[in-house]
Amino acid sequence: MTRHKQDGLTMNLFDSLDAGELWQEALCPGAAVLHGYAGDGRLLLPAVHDVTTLAPFRQMVTPSGFRMSVAMSNCGSFGWLSDKSGYRYGSTDPLSGRAWPRMPDSFARLASAAAAQAGFDGFEPDACLINRYEPGARLSLHQDKDERDFSQPIVSVSLGIPAVFLFGGLSRTDPAIRVLLTHGDVVVWGGPARLRYHGVMPVKEHNHPIMGRCRINLTFRKVM
Ligand code: SIN
Ligand code: FE2
Repeated sequence: MTRHKQDGLTMNLFDSLDAGELWQEALCPGAAVLHGYAGDGRLLLPAVHDVTTLAPFRQMVTPSGFRMSVAMSNCGSFGWLSDKSGYRYGSTDPLSGRAWPRMPDSFARLASAAAAQAGFDGFEPDACLINRYEPGARLSLHQDKDERDFSQPIVSVSLGIPAVFLFGGLSRTDPAIRVLLTHGDVVVWGGPARLRYHGVMPVKEHNHPIMGRCRINLTFRKVM
């Protein structure tokens, strides 16, 4: 297995793990990175393809009128939307007028298992936002707060080229730590960390052997 961080601490930690053991990195109370938890993504990628054939990636517009650099789609009972009238969840894809594609079982199982691994049992997501980043795309600091029940965590699965994830505090101006997320990494935040600000630095030029110049992030939420 390869690791991107080469500092002594990380290498010693990693070398001391038995094969197959999970490297779980606590970010703060309620938040953890499960490095490599999604494996090589083999089960997820065909499902991403199926969903985004039915509900194609699109660059949404923010309420202030800017087109987002990240392209998005959704699956599950609810999909996250942004347009001139605001941010919200909706049960239909405005492009087709049809319900969002159902959430693949492999997605729901992975999200629920990752949440449990991080200490949040019984997570049953009803929404999965699929973000596609090409080099240069970024996501500015924000809170996930359009969901009804903040007792349920957020589970975020990263695939493809690496990105630097920013994980801040409960106020926008709190300092943010930087976490390198690579193919297969899963971040879970909930409980006291549920409303922490987070974002993604502009993605750098890379080529992933399976996914090319692209990063896909799946974020699972319990909306209702
Ligand atoms: C998000 O906050 O919706 C996505 C985070 C990510 O792409 O890692
Ligand atoms: Fe988010």
